[in-house]
Amino acid sequence: MSWLVTGGAGYIGAHIVRALQNAGLEPVALDNLVTGLARFVPAGVPLIEADVNDTTAVTRALTEHAVDGIIHVAGFKYAGVSVERPLHTYRENVTGMVSVLEAAQEADVQKVVFSSSASVYGTPDTEIVTEDAPLHPESPYGESKLIGEWLLADQERATEGFRSVSLRYFNVVGSGTDEVWDVSPHNLFPIVIDALLDGRTPRINGIDYPTPDGTCVRDYVHVGDLAISHVAAAQALAAGKPLARAYNLGSGTGLSVRQIMDAVAQVTGIGFTPEIAPRRPGDPARIVARGDLAARDLDWVMRHDVADMVASAWRARRASLGLSLTS
Ligand SMILES: NC(=O)c1ccc[n+]([C@@H]2O[C@H](COP(=O)([O-])OP(=O)(O)OC[C@H]3O[C@@H](n4cnc5c(N)ncnc54)[C@H](O)[C@@H]3O)[C@@H](O)[C@H]2O)c1
Repeated sequence: MSWLVTGGAGYIGAHIVRALQNAGLEPVALDNLVTGLARFVPAGVPLIEADVNDTTAVTRALTEHAVDGIIHVAGFKYAGVSVERPLHTYRENVTGMVSVLEAAQEADVQKVVFSSSASVYGTPDTEIVTEDAPLHPESPYGESKLIGEWLLADQERATEGFRSVSLRYFNVVGSGTDEVWDVSPHNLFPIVIDALLDGRTPRINGIDYPTPDGTCVRDYVHVGDLAISHVAAAQALAAGKPLARAYNLGSGTGLSVRQIMDAVAQVTGIGFTPEIAPRRPGDPARIVARGDLAARDLDWVMRHDVADMVASAWRARRASLGLSLTS
């Protein structure tokens, strides 16, 4: 059984490609390499260099590789930047989804797993976010992901046999292999790790939030665990099992920025006292989600603790720079 992974050369997509391989499914990666790297795609997996907005190329990929389903991961993921670049964000995430669905229709592919995001909730007013929490995205990015979910629901209503599921991610971190790392210049893990590798002191933005240690609390999950749940989602769709429309891949417990910094110091053996900077506008104090529904239906298990998350991210980033993995 063959699955097309759009964004398969990106941080999360490349992990999903490996998880599909491990499960004996045949992944095909499609990526325009705007942020992804061809070397993230393992040997033996076809990489089609194309844009998801090129409907003809996506259709060709689906038919030439006899694809059974699509895991649509490709997208523009920077919520902050999306405020300044709404049209770009909508073209990548909304028009991109329309194009993928047109290609699926043309090639008679009936199953789609979608990389959605916690940003569909905006700033939740509950301690723990569940899937039925109000949807109030606060950026073009969050809006574009929610529209992606609506497009899937509408296509499902309009198309006999078509089925989809949206997986809402929170803070995805770590590496399941030293060959793939998070390339994002905006995410906490790469920012802290790159600061230490450059000899700079990592910074905490805001220590006066209403949280136990005053720093923001987020829901960190390991990318390898996340990838396994995509395989479970693909297999459930293929088997015709009933699924909810959307799942939170959440940890149920949060970690503060200060706790992440402590874990980084411990794992790397580099003692540092973070610099304290002002709050960043728009950062909510706490976002933590429950993953119970995904645990029930999608083999969602937190197999890695924070030390694993930090250690694997540190190793993969060092490996990418050709640095020793033992020091
Ligand atoms: N990383 C996170 O914590 C997080 C959280 C929530 C949601 N997400 C979503 O998960 C998905 C993957 O995120 P990631 O962290 O792996 O980011 P990433 O930038 O590493 O991966 C995105 C991949 O998609 C490719 N791509 C982008 N636009 C494309 C296009 N128009 N056509 C073809 N390929 C294209 C990129 O080259 C890259 O390989 C995104 O859709 C993102 O919105 C990520």
